[in-house]
Amino acid sequence: MTKVLAVNSSPNMEEGTTALILNPFLEGMKDAGAEVELLYTKKLDIKPCIGDFSCWETGGKCCINDDMEQVVSKLLNADMWIFGIPVYIPFPGEFQNLLNRTMPLFDGSADVRGGRMYPRLRKEVKLKLIGLISTCGYWGLDNFDKVIDPIKDMAEICKADFPDPLLRPHASLLMSMLNEGSDVGFIVDAAREAGSQIINDGKISPKTSEIVSRPLVSFEEFASKESP
Ligand SMILES: Cc1cc2nc3c(=O)[nH]c(=O)nc-3n(C[C@H](O)[C@H](O)[C@H](O)COP(=O)(O)O)c2cc1C
Repeated sequence: MTKVLAVNSSPNMEEGTTALILNPFLEGMKDAGAEVELLYTKKLDIKPCIGDFSCWETGGKCCINDDMEQVVSKLLNADMWIFGIPVYIPFPGEFQNLLNRTMPLFDGSADVRGGRMYPRLRKEVKLKLIGLISTCGYWGLDNFDKVIDPIKDMAEICKADFPDPLLRPHASLLMSMLNEGSDVGFIVDAAREAGSQIINDGKISPKTSEIVSRPLVSFEEFASKESP
């Protein structure tokens, strides 16, 4: 059975737009037979990395005593990492702390590939795929580049697959339309379908991604309301 560790890094947790897309996506993964554990960065005590590299001298033991020890052990044992990240130029601070504190998952040696040096993952790490679910406030998909690039790079460092991410722009408009009972539940249904697709096919179909990202109003209408 595929073991999935998911992280919701929105400070708004269950009330946020990240959960609106991430939760059905994880349900879809479970529908397809995956075992899913979901963590919220806001509930965890994860201090910033102090950069002394002691974890590379102690076989992966960080010198900071906080919740990251448990998170590292969960990351080590998961086949897939799913990161739910709202665009916060680029990350919410707690998520940046978590990402930096993955250093104990690397063994301290360099892996040279294609003229570039990468840190090498410890052999025990089972990771095969990193998935990204992201929401933003403004209208367009261009807002996501700053979040996609570092996560895609992390996947390259880890030699993990990085399927096309699931992106929901002007996500708070989706939330208010859902709350008003507008007929936009098909977007949530597509997020669920995307989760099943990742488990069954290792990727999300372009059609399903397009439904999740579909504009709810024109750029002109959205921009005129946001900048009167
Ligand atoms: C510090 C900060 C920076 C943000 N930067 C952007 C941005 O560059 N582009 C954008 O479209 N939305 C931006 N947003 C809006 C959030 O991405 C948006 O509100 C999102 O829906 C929040 O997700 P959540 O409800 O799960 O927390 C920013 C929000 C915050 C608080």
